[in-house]
Amino acid sequence: MFQLRDVTCQFGRKLAVNNVSLTIPEGQMVGVIGRSGAGKSTLLRMLNRLAKSTSGSIRYGDIDVTALRGAGLRAWQRDCAMIFQQFNLVPRLDVLTNVLLGRLNERSTVMNVLGLFSREERIEAIAALERLGIEQVALQPAGTLSGGQQQRVAIARALMQRPKVLLADEPIASLDPLNAKIVMDALRDINEREGITVIVNLHTLDTARTYCQRIVGMAEGRVVFDGAAEHLDGQAVATIYGTEQAIDETMTSTALPERQAALARPATPSASLQPLVLAGL
Ligand SMILES: Nc1ncnc2c1ncn2[C@@H]1O[C@H](COP(=O)(O)OP(=O)(O)OP(=O)(O)O)[C@@H](O)[C@H]1O
Ligand SMILES: [Mg+2]
Repeated sequence: MFQLRDVTCQFGRKLAVNNVSLTIPEGQMVGVIGRSGAGKSTLLRMLNRLAKSTSGSIRYGDIDVTALRGAGLRAWQRDCAMIFQQFNLVPRLDVLTNVLLGRLNERSTVMNVLGLFSREERIEAIAALERLGIEQVALQPAGTLSGGQQQRVAIARALMQRPKVLLADEPIASLDPLNAKIVMDALRDINEREGITVIVNLHTLDTARTYCQRIVGMAEGRVVFDGAAEHLDGQAVATIYGTEQAIDETMTSTALPERQAALARPATPSASLQPLVLAGL
């Protein structure tokens, strides 16, 4: 279970995350939503210590995440896998090797330098690719795959870490709707079958509603909504995305073109939010 208490992350004078307290039990699938700059990525990055909190405490069970160093920090980053919008694969290496890289943290430096992977590790990597339905591209350079395939490779690599938690920072923002669905289905499957906690930053409200038991809404570094998808009503959406400015396409990077016109149109807050709510956005 994650326990965040009064967590803040400050860059210069900017409070990217401002006094956030959250408890996330094991096995939840949590969607984090909010406008661009709300602090979603910073929050996720603090959980696996890609970013360091300025103050507050982050605990996972007995582990004081904010205090980890050296081997303890590496072990935590293995337990807390992360996938990114831009996949972060090594494009010239084949898919299988990319997946095997998920195991690097556990291996000796010599084995890593020699690039040696055991037969068991290879079998596990192929099983991970099979699970994601992309074993047929195992020997292709990762850079030759479509975006959807690359994201599935990134998930397979994360699975090779045998993580307790899977963090996903806008995993579908670069994908077309079909590939977005495949990737979100895969994350849900991992959450349901292995009981791995999944925390996913999303630009699209409808995706968060469809896949996440719990939605955390952020605005200006603070958590302004935390609840079940069915409680995310027009009022809550207005609180998260703001009522002052016209809502435009920057709030959702995967909005369909016909929706974008409606989103960009200046209107009274309730009128501009209505289509979003009706569309389940
Ligand atoms: N390394 C950094 N140095 C300085 N400012 C930063 C840094 N990282 C984030 N910020 C700032 O902190 C705020 C929150 O950024 P963050 O990337 O967490 O937002 P976000 O909700 O993920 O946005 P987006 O939806 O665009 O990805 C922004 O104002 C951003 O410019
Ligand atoms: Mg972000």
